[in-house]
Amino acid sequence: MDTKQEKNEKLYKILTYGCQMNVHDSEILAGMLNQMGYGEAAVEEDADIILINTCSIRDKAEQKVFGKVGALKKLKAIKNDLVIGICGCMIQQQKVAERLQKDFPHVDLLFGTHNIHQLPQMIEKVLFKDERVLEVWNEEGEVVEGLPRLRDDGVTAWVTITYGCNNFCTYCIVPHVRGRERSRNPQDIVKEIEGIVAKGYKEITLLGQNVNSYGKDFDEDYDFADLLSEVAKIKELTRIRYMTPHPRDFTEKLIDVVAANDKICNHFHLPVQSGSSKVLKAMNRGYDQQTYLDLVGKIKEKVNDYSITTDIIVGFPGETEEDFLETLKVVEQVRYDSAFTFAYSPREGTPAAKMDTQIPQQQKSDRLQRLIEAQNKISRQINDTYVGQVWDVLVEGTSKNDPNSISGRTKTAKIVNFNGDKDLIGQEVKVKITGSQTWSLTGEIID
Ligand code: SAH
Ligand code: SF4
Ligand code: F3S
Repeated sequence: MDTKQEKNEKLYKILTYGCQMNVHDSEILAGMLNQMGYGEAAVEEDADIILINTCSIRDKAEQKVFGKVGALKKLKAIKNDLVIGICGCMIQQQKVAERLQKDFPHVDLLFGTHNIHQLPQMIEKVLFKDERVLEVWNEEGEVVEGLPRLRDDGVTAWVTITYGCNNFCTYCIVPHVRGRERSRNPQDIVKEIEGIVAKGYKEITLLGQNVNSYGKDFDEDYDFADLLSEVAKIKELTRIRYMTPHPRDFTEKLIDVVAANDKICNHFHLPVQSGSSKVLKAMNRGYDQQTYLDLVGKIKEKVNDYSITTDIIVGFPGETEEDFLETLKVVEQVRYDSAFTFAYSPREGTPAAKMDTQIPQQQKSDRLQRLIEAQNKISRQINDTYVGQVWDVLVEGTSKNDPNSISGRTKTAKIVNFNGDKDLIGQEVKVKITGSQTWSLTGEIID
């Protein structure tokens, strides 16, 4: 990325919260700003434009943004011509957008997730007409292709295949802020990946809120498994990942394509959310405990050297101790490699927030603690079994905690840290695992 700060060059800073959807949008915002002649600022204080790309998934995520926007008031006070914009999922909720607009008069620009392609015109309005701009479309338009995009250089890249979500899980804000599901054309996706690979990337992650419902909006019969098979034909590509599949849409055809194709990583992220069939029904997840366990059984039977991870919510309205024990039972039975665990956070406008069986905060925290303890034990036990084995590791960069060692992932998505030359970044190397922690492994390169 070009971060040169030439004299007189106008600079931008984008602060991104939330999931890869926002990371993707921020790359497009950066691409457009770049085309407008802006460079990237190293720190907020140097920027002429600051954009905050927000997330609404849980209350904590929103609180962080309120804190950050409040803190920027000081900077605006000393730098009058600074443009501050807020975008992303929070703006798609009318009440939140109104509150931001009212409480933070130092913010010049607010725009929703369906308006990002209008950034240049909006900035122009702020700069030349001296207007405060609020642009929110409630309906998603067509998928806009061909927007400039500024990706960080690297080994792994994300490629969006679907926008939005049609599932309406009763706790979730995403369908309300990201609109209905729209699939990109396979040709556009393949073309984008070929371009990425030509720049030296080795691994791509296909991205969507529900990747395996890809193609359901097409007239012809073409699904996610078909797309994976086609992408796997791209020669120079070493590895393919995808995020996030929905257990309900995980077909046997898809398991077979993953099992048959060496490039497609055998890491299965299968968000279970709850182990209780009663709670799953109230969440509108479209599967029960047994169907979920059957799916896991099929994966374990058909795929070698798999790993399975998940997302779990505790304290959904009406969740009893028995329901929670069902979740613990599923955790013990599946033996997840790792899990993202959350206490249920009511989101205004979703059906679950209106349920009158909300669980007290303390109980949610207690259950979360018990769940984390159970899962951490399993994660550690599974990681211990890796010690002594040899794995292909795609080197992604230097280690987070030790800049003198390098780091990468196995096909099962385990992070491995080891000594090695930085020239190996971007290459697949054979590593013998010599140590294990709850979240990562250590190893040494073998020739
Ligand atoms: N589309 C993906 C990811 C959605 S957001 C999927 O369906 O799996 C990531 C995770 O956040 C979800 O899997 C869920 O576990 C969690 N989450 C979403 N809404 C939440 C809420 N209101 N409270 C707590 N956790 C929530
Ligand atoms: Fe939210 Fe459910 Fe859609 Fe995931 S599948 S984004 S949890 S509504
Ligand atoms: Fe957050 Fe929006 Fe993603 S709510 S999790 S940034 S789709």
